[in-house]
Amino acid sequence: MAHLQFDFTGQSVLVTGAGRGVGEEIARLFHAAGARVGVSDVDAGAAQAVATSLDPGARSCMPLALDVRRKEDFERARDQLVAAWGRVDIVINNAGYAKRTPVQDISVAEFDDIVAINMRSVFLSCQVFSEHMKANGYGRIVNVTSLAGQNGGTVASAHYAAAKAGATMLSKYFAQQLAGTGVTVNAISPGPISTAKGRLSDEQIARIEKLVPIGRFGEASEIAAAVALLASDQGGFFVGATLDLNGGLFMR
Ligand SMILES: NC(=O)c1ccc[n+]([C@@H]2O[C@H](COP(=O)([O-])OP(=O)(O)OC[C@H]3O[C@@H](n4cnc5c(N)ncnc54)[C@H](O)[C@@H]3O)[C@@H](O)[C@H]2O)c1
Repeated sequence: MAHLQFDFTGQSVLVTGAGRGVGEEIARLFHAAGARVGVSDVDAGAAQAVATSLDPGARSCMPLALDVRRKEDFERARDQLVAAWGRVDIVINNAGYAKRTPVQDISVAEFDDIVAINMRSVFLSCQVFSEHMKANGYGRIVNVTSLAGQNGGTVASAHYAAAKAGATMLSKYFAQQLAGTGVTVNAISPGPISTAKGRLSDEQIARIEKLVPIGRFGEASEIAAAVALLASDQGGFFVGATLDLNGGLFMR
């Protein structure tokens, strides 16, 4: 599917979890729209592969090993991007991990890890990049949350759903703190995306397609387009918003 026409020429973007799936698509959209892109993932090899496929010369793309559970990884990524390109204009907190564990089987360690990946990551990233962006007088942060954080989702577990709800709240909290500084923080809340199909049984896929009023999963390119809108100059009036993209599964 062709990308919508956005122009991010001259802007510097960091995408987390960009080694595959939605994050990869987001990185591809920003790169196609003229941005320099920090392609980061906990899987350094996957980040490298995406960055190389976008720009074998590595001038407009930088692969970064970034585990979103670690504040020092965000700080290092910020420093590397600033050293290469002068500043970071846009951060997309896309990395996430859904483990489908029955509620009584969730251990304390697993609960904490899922919260660290899906919620604490948003806190750490906003903490690190809001200061940098505030100093620049401009910035866009977009957090990828989930329908699971609004109504429990279709196949999500308790820890994942709760963490995504927290990520939505953090988007509002930082948006409020930063309002008027030139920095905006917003979120998107997708329902089932086709990138999840590989992790679902045929039965689950059919059940979800039946549940969604428009009868299908969302495409990664549709998610990326919503992210780009919130990250664009024209998106400046979105402050603490959460865009729902769920094919009609949940309306508010
Ligand atoms: N797929 C869906 O149906 C769906 C629905 C709603 C929301 N979401 C959210 O959208 C985002 C992208 O989903 P996706 O389907 O592309 O997922 P995916 O599993 O295909 O890709 C996630 C990427 O994040 C990376 N990652 C995992 N843990 C990480 C960590 N600790 N630090 C850095 N990177 C890490 C993985 O290596 C992978 O490259 C996630 O936040 C997910 O929770 C997905």
